[in-house]
Amino acid sequence: MRKHIVAGNWKMNNDLNATKSLITDLKNEKNEGDAEVIIAPTYINLDYASQTLTNTDITVAAQNMHQAESGAYTGEISAEMLKSVGVSTVIIGHSERRAYFNESDDLLASKVNAGLKNDMRVIFCFGEELEDRKSGKHEAVVASQLKNALFHIEKVAWSHIVLAYEPVWAIGTGETASPEQAQDMHAFIRKTVAAQYSQDVANNVTILYGGSVKPANAQEIFSKPDVDGGLIGGASLKAKDFFEIVNAF
Ligand code: PGA
Repeated sequence: MRKHIVAGNWKMNNDLNATKSLITDLKNEKNEGDAEVIIAPTYINLDYASQTLTNTDITVAAQNMHQAESGAYTGEISAEMLKSVGVSTVIIGHSERRAYFNESDDLLASKVNAGLKNDMRVIFCFGEELEDRKSGKHEAVVASQLKNALFHIEKVAWSHIVLAYEPVWAIGTGETASPEQAQDMHAFIRKTVAAQYSQDVANNVTILYGGSVKPANAQEIFSKPDVDGGLIGGASLKAKDFFEIVNAF
């Protein structure tokens, strides 16, 4: 059976003090369900987070990484560096990376390769823009994002992949896809993976929904059969809210 996951993407929030206090709060919350809990603090606090959360059931992930092993890439962070501080899960392809840092499908494909080569788990994000949905192209856009940045990987690599469908129009906007819209797209994604790989691969891959998930709507979204969890931005910055979502399964 595929895994449930609730991952908190802290984005560019929380300095070291705020990170310490949020992690303390998170450790006081109780995971009452079966979802794996992941948090993705900013790079400079990953070492602290990963050390502090050793021997807990909260996993630490990075929000991004560079595709090269090492070298003259000022300001960048490699897979090896992440692994050296105990981080072996990485978010790749978040829509903010695509939109503000011009990350293309080709670049994302190489980041996926770097993650897999270094034995990391990749949370691969994708999703359509509002225009695409309005014009009925949302499924075609999602299929091409998968095809161009992910469908080159080998079948065996799928055990290292988590998918995160995040319609751009729902991220940080307060507007959530309806549970039906999320379910329809997740079913489409699973069908697309099955057609490219196998039904078995499709059945086993965890597909997260992201975009304005909150305590008030998590349960309904998570109740859909193809929604295996969430990638949470804003609501992951408060321990109580985040764990209400974690416990919505
Ligand atoms: P949001 O962000 O929950 O604040 O909409 C989701 C995301 O960007 O992953």
